Amino acid sequence: ARVYRGTFAHSTRDAALRVFTDFVLGLNVQGKIAFFEEGQNVESLSHQWGFEMSDIEQLGPHEFFIPGMVDTHIHASQYTYSGTHLDLPLLDWLKIYTFPVESLYEDLDFAKDVYTKVVKRTLCNGTTTACYFATIHTDASLLLGQIADDFGQRALIGKVCMDRNTMVPDYKELTEGCKEETDRFIHELLKKKYALVKPVVTPRFAISCSSSLLSNLGKIAKEYNLHVQSHISENKQEVQFVKELFPDCTSYTDVYVKHGLLTDKTVMAHGCYLTDEELKIFHEKGAAVSHCPSSNISLISGMLNVRNILKHNVKLGLGTDVAGGYSSSMLDTIRRAVDTSKALCLQDDQLKPLSYKEAFRLATLGGSEVLSLDDCTGNFDVGKDFDALRVNICVPGSPIDLFPGDDPEVILEKFLNLGDDRNIVEVYVAGKQVVPFPASS
Ligand code: GUN
Ligand code: FE
Repeated sequence: ARVYRGTFAHSTRDAALRVFTDFVLGLNVQGKIAFFEEGQNVESLSHQWGFEMSDIEQLGPHEFFIPGMVDTHIHASQYTYSGTHLDLPLLDWLKIYTFPVESLYEDLDFAKDVYTKVVKRTLCNGTTTACYFATIHTDASLLLGQIADDFGQRALIGKVCMDRNTMVPDYKELTEGCKEETDRFIHELLKKKYALVKPVVTPRFAISCSSSLLSNLGKIAKEYNLHVQSHISENKQEVQFVKELFPDCTSYTDVYVKHGLLTDKTVMAHGCYLTDEELKIFHEKGAAVSHCPSSNISLISGMLNVRNILKHNVKLGLGTDVAGGYSSSMLDTIRRAVDTSKALCLQDDQLKPLSYKEAFRLATLGGSEVLSLDDCTGNFDVGKDFDALRVNICVPGSPIDLFPGDDPEVILEKFLNLGDDRNIVEVYVAGKQVVPFPASS
């Protein structure tokens, strides 16, 4: 067994943040958390679990472990232009910037280069689990799965489905072809039997999918009990267009319900304009929302009221939404989530802003719940996989300064608001160290 001793912080359902100083955490050979107890119990733990005192890895005074972060919505294929192209609203942005770039993933060499970079970058940023959109191309999407597996990232991979309104001639599938390719994608990815990489059924959004395609995808999700991901109510023009495209549906949410795509394994990105009635349906179905605050601001889409999502007891996590969101770092997303909630407080002084602790929970345990992975990830409960970040505040070039009296909770708050990948010195997924990368990569 591997054993660490020092400071740990995580979230539970009852507490947005719990900090444990001088705790010992032990891993079994499967990379699961075998014990997590106070340091004073270390003698009896060593007898019980059969480790020597000299086997214990003691964390430094400015170090701590937090659970790995869960990016519940990221477009791996848009990573090439992240940090640019932030000057158009959603539908124009898709047409002018996004679809032309996504059409390039026919080329597997290009795909391999970009997908390797995005997996490495997100792992260094502390994303231990990512829920990815790839493109319409089956082979490049399979390659993303292989790369995530190679680097040891926990990932859901979506081959994007779209058979109409693609706005550019080069980026479009026929309905039948899309159904067949989705089948092929799912079968080939499942056949690989990757331990931590799974397929997710991915209709891009209601605008770009015909009713026939949506129904078929709903059937596939049900038949194989798969996750579903898409976009919903991100932007006002989008919501209006969906109304026109689906006159028989009572709401945007109803479009997905009617096609069997709103399940307890569904994650819908954005949801800025969801009504209370729609949120009730989300709650009843057990469907989740991925809050993408950086993207919502950059594309001037809207501001999600997270208090209202939480009030309706809808599962909620955070997403970078690269490249609508310019940063691939979940730390940035945590900050934008807090900023957005504070901006909303300017409009409604009854509203309580999101605390950094709540944002931390959304980025870790919340994301695990969104992806139905909370039985095995999200915090340091005994029996879960060890998905964790070793954080060190005092590394060379650290963007954080400490002062006398900065206790562990203050240090964590500073890391969340000021830290970056330089402070994330080691990353573990299912007990395996994945950052720093092996020398060969
Ligand atoms: N809606 C449909 N496709 C996309 C996309 O690629 N990014 C964002 N932010 N919204 C979308
Ligand atoms: Fe998106």
